[in-house]
Amino acid sequence: MLNKSKLMKMKEEKDKITMLTSYDYPSARMAEEAETDMILVGDSLGMVVLGYDSTIPVTVNDMVHHGKAVRRGARNTFVVVDMPFMSYHVSMEDTLKNAKQIYQETEAQALKVEGAGEVLHTIESLTAAGIPVVGHLGLTPQSVNVLGGYKVQGKDKEAAYQMIEDAKKIQEAGAMALVLECVPKELASLITEQLTIPTIGIGAGAEVDGQVLVYHDILKYGVDRLPKFVKSYFNGNEHLIEAVKSYVTEVKSGEFPGEEHTFTMNVDSLPK
Ligand code: KIV
Ligand code: NA
Repeated sequence: MLNKSKLMKMKEEKDKITMLTSYDYPSARMAEEAETDMILVGDSLGMVVLGYDSTIPVTVNDMVHHGKAVRRGARNTFVVVDMPFMSYHVSMEDTLKNAKQIYQETEAQALKVEGAGEVLHTIESLTAAGIPVVGHLGLTPQSVNVLGGYKVQGKDKEAAYQMIEDAKKIQEAGAMALVLECVPKELASLITEQLTIPTIGIGAGAEVDGQVLVYHDILKYGVDRLPKFVKSYFNGNEHLIEAVKSYVTEVKSGEFPGEEHTFTMNVDSLPK
């Protein structure tokens, strides 16, 4: 199983870290079978599998429910679980209680939190309590309404400087890795150079230590509009709808079920 020092070694040796989201048992099984280095139970599950418009409605119980299913599907893979909206912003007591619940019940290897500032203290406290933490900068979807939409972050000088400072502070606070989302490649590359912990990019270019994408995005499965930074390796929407339509058509026409799908018995055993 991966740990902080192995991850830092991967960074040193330029061995790219692969991360993929999973939200349930079958996707976790696939991620593990494909030898993904790390699975992220992202709070993106709110949008991808629960159909919300943002990650804001996602609860601690949602993360626990999905995280446990992922764990059952991927016993031998490093699993990171997102702390959801407002579960680490009220009091440190509540933050630790929420973190403990998610960490223990999902048997995760690490938890992920968005942002710096006040959150630095959370990163310190969780790490001190023995819970490895992954940071997340750039586009932080839980703050989408403060950021003014889903868009690239850190493009001007001031914002770029701030992100570099925040990244360093997240490392100092004890984080084991840092996700960079929707960040220009030049800035992501600079942050990657300046940190000893690995950076994992999504929409952050190639000059980072690893990549993360959403399971349903790489399979184009149940998602409509894909952002520029996604590469799909399968057209799930197209292939799956064909299969589902065939089932419906065959039941209507009587083609399904066939003899091969059917149990039989001796008719003499039937009551007269
Ligand atoms: O929830 C999520 O899927 C994430 C990734 C986009 C990094 O946080
Ligand atoms: Na997330």
